Amino acid sequence: MTTIDFSALTEAEAAGIQNFPKPAPGTWTEAFGLGKGPVPLDDCYDPDFYEDEKEAVFRRSWLFGGRMQQLPRKGTYFTKELPFLNLSVLFVRGMDDTVRAFHNVCTHRGNKLMWDDYPGQESSGACRQMACKYHGWRFDLEGEISYVHNAPEFFDLTAEDIALKKIHCEVWAGFIFFNLEETPRATLREFLGEDVWKMETYPFEKMTQRYVIESPVNSNWKLLMDAFQELYHVPYVHSKMNNPSGLATGTDKVPFMMPKFHVFGKHRQYTSGGPHANFGVRSPRPLDNFFGSAFYGPESPPDIGPVGDGVNPSKIDGWGLDSWQLYPNLDILIWGRRNWYLTYEYWPTSADTHHFIWNLWFVPPTNARERLAQEQTVLSVREFAIQDAGAVNAMQVALKSGAVKGFQFCDQEVLARHLHHHIQNDVAEYRRELGK
Ligand code: FES
Ligand SMILES: [Fe+2]
Repeated sequence: MTTIDFSALTEAEAAGIQNFPKPAPGTWTEAFGLGKGPVPLDDCYDPDFYEDEKEAVFRRSWLFGGRMQQLPRKGTYFTKELPFLNLSVLFVRGMDDTVRAFHNVCTHRGNKLMWDDYPGQESSGACRQMACKYHGWRFDLEGEISYVHNAPEFFDLTAEDIALKKIHCEVWAGFIFFNLEETPRATLREFLGEDVWKMETYPFEKMTQRYVIESPVNSNWKLLMDAFQELYHVPYVHSKMNNPSGLATGTDKVPFMMPKFHVFGKHRQYTSGGPHANFGVRSPRPLDNFFGSAFYGPESPPDIGPVGDGVNPSKIDGWGLDSWQLYPNLDILIWGRRNWYLTYEYWPTSADTHHFIWNLWFVPPTNARERLAQEQTVLSVREFAIQDAGAVNAMQVALKSGAVKGFQFCDQEVLARHLHHHIQNDVAEYRRELGK
């Protein structure tokens, strides 16, 4: 039985978060060659930038579709709705166990192929053939036409012409990606790069217990992504949630300095540690202690065996968290020692808004206590995210005034600088190609 402990952490526990090697101020930003000046911020509200960003970034990158756990056997499928690109992507696991992606559009007269009660909503299930609700055309799991109702009435139909329209699809470590280019400029492996690819040794496949939360957010997608790639804001936005000394000694006590950053091409990563990486540390929240669980996961996680070489690339002691931001809009957060992970997706819906999806993945619980501990983590993560979403909502309203022209990023915000740098580079290159 866990006892409830209302006291805050000791000074020694709180200090533990700072006991990681860190370089002198300015070092990361210099080392990554990103410049130290203010970064233009109109990429977060300018409608023209947004239109070009769709083409330059989202139609030219490998994008995250979902996890293999969403396609557990032959014939299973799910759709992903991307209204900002006027797109519904249909992922199907074929009889050969290959995952394929198609435009979710019937080739007869263009009706939406797979949907349930509302055509704008996502759909999933299992089937042997995919049947259109309008005139009954059917397609096999490889996307080939398998039935045309009253076929002799048609003129010169060829199977090739009426097969489902393919989208490039590749799988890495159980993460399903798709690419909208006619001919992708890189394979998925080239796009991710070898350092990211190495993370595949982590046993993601053991974590099949999934919790999903999604929400519209009133900010440009990059603003919320920025909030998850720096801890500079934590003592203020999350002062009563995560700052272990906050209740007792004030929010400025623990600065949440991140010990290590990496950039891998357009992707980036930070490693964090501290008391939350270790067992037996008390949370300032009574319910966390009651359920033996908190934001960083259940205190008694299952054994998942070796985690491989790809995670914790800095090899720091007291490893707490790996946060990988994969270009353009996917975060993978792996909680060291707590043995679970989550993904954040930020899908634009306009220059000023986006749709935020987070999936939390755990080893399936074996009893009610483990299930409740997982749910307490889910609730804590949701509270954190609501606080971040509130902060960036206020930011969106303010920065549109144009009063401030650039982000002033400190060295601890270097990863946010890196994201805007690459997004702005890609849009600039696209505009050059078009002679804009
Ligand atoms: S639109 Fe699909 S069968 Fe007619
Ligand atoms: Fe936050």
